[in-house]
Parts: sequence; structure tokens; C-alpha cells
Amino acid sequence: MQNLVIAPSILAADFACLGEEVDRVLAAGADWVHFDVMDNHYVPNLSFGPVVCQALRRHGVSAPIDVHLMVRPVDQIIPDFAAAGASLISFHPEASDHVDRSLQLIRDQGCQTGLVFNPATPLDCLRYVMDKVDLILLMSVNPGFGGQQFLPGTLDKLREARALIDAQPRPVRLEVDGGVGPDNIDAVVAAGADTVVAGSAIFGRPDYAAVIAEMRERAAR
Ligand code: DX5
Ligand code: ZN
Repeated sequence: MQNLVIAPSILAADFACLGEEVDRVLAAGADWVHFDVMDNHYVPNLSFGPVVCQALRRHGVSAPIDVHLMVRPVDQIIPDFAAAGASLISFHPEASDHVDRSLQLIRDQGCQTGLVFNPATPLDCLRYVMDKVDLILLMSVNPGFGGQQFLPGTLDKLREARALIDAQPRPVRLEVDGGVGPDNIDAVVAAGADTVVAGSAIFGRPDYAAVIAEMRERAAR
């Protein structure tokens, strides 16, 4: 397995002091910042956009920013996020009219690419674009809100995605997002995930370092 990446979702952070929250969670051992962008159109919630990403960079955040677009359409906003300092940009294939073109656009902007699959979305399109994908993100809840319960069917899908990744030559990360924390990180890692998003499980506890350490310890068992 590639090294385990823990990516706290700042959707669950205190927005009144977002810069300090991100500093704290990175100092506590997080690897990436997971940045959930919701448009009240593709998903029934509204979060934040490129200006907030840019503000985090200006604040001094140097860790990778993992932008998860839950917006439709996707192409207009991709250059804005690249200019705002995004490291990876992931989108849902249903939200793009031309998946291959959107992936190429992300690459052309100098960012890494990701495709996100909802719980009921098959992985079929990967067959045609795997060479343009740096990260596969499997949703383990329906997108739109933090704090939901992990859907156990995700474990089989992780195994399916892991087999696809291992059958091709390039390094592709396998990320899981939604309802993940110390209680189930062992199961998602055993099923093939190497990158774990956690929002409420981390920001909902007072000691970020303790919960991140607990997640790493349980993942390694
Ligand atoms: C859901 C988001 C997730 C979510 C994770 O639409 O993509 O990143 O915020 O939050 P938790 O870990 O609380 O389920
Ligand atoms: Zn997310």
C-alpha cells in the first residue's frame, strides 16, 4: 500500500477561525486538506468556493489541498480553483458533460485529477479514462452533508476499485469519503483505501492529534 493519507474535511471545521483550524489539524498530523465544494444544485447544500481556497494559501497553508467539487457544471470553476492553489481537483462524472475533457482541463491547469463515484454510481467510465486519473474517490455517503453514516456497501466497491488500480501500471490513489473515523478505518484500509477523508470524526473531537493518531494506529493493525 502507498503511505496512508489522512485528509480532514474542513466542512466540519469552525468557519469563524478556518485558518487556525487548518493550522491545528495539520500540526496534529493530517496530510492533506479536504475541501468540499457544494453548489446547492448538484447537491442540496452550499459551502465555499475558490476565494476560500486562496485565503488558506495566503494564510500560509502549504499542504496539498484536495478539492472535491460537488458542483454542476464543473469546467467553468476548474481554472479558478487551479489559480486559487488547489493541488488536486476531483469531480463527479455525472456533473460533467465531457468527462475526458474535464480531466484534461484539470491537468492542463497543472493540478492532479480525481473522479468521484456516488454510492450508486458504477465505476464503468474508469475503463476509458484511467490513464487520465490520479485519484479515485469513492463516496461512502450520499454527497451533500457531513456527519452521515458510512454505507457498508462501500467496502465491496473499494475492493473493486483497488483491483482496477492494481491491474494498471500507474500510481493512482484510492480515497474514501463519508462517515469514516477510528471505528471503521481498519475496514476501509483493508478493503484497499490509501487515502481517508474524515470530517466530523476529527473536528468533532477536542484533541485532533489524538484522533489522528488513533486512526493511524487502527489502520496499521
Ligand atoms: C460529503 C462530503 C464529505 C463530508 C465528510 O458530501 O464530501 O467530505 O464532509 O464528512 P464526515 O466525515 O463527517 O462524514
Ligand atoms: Zn468530500
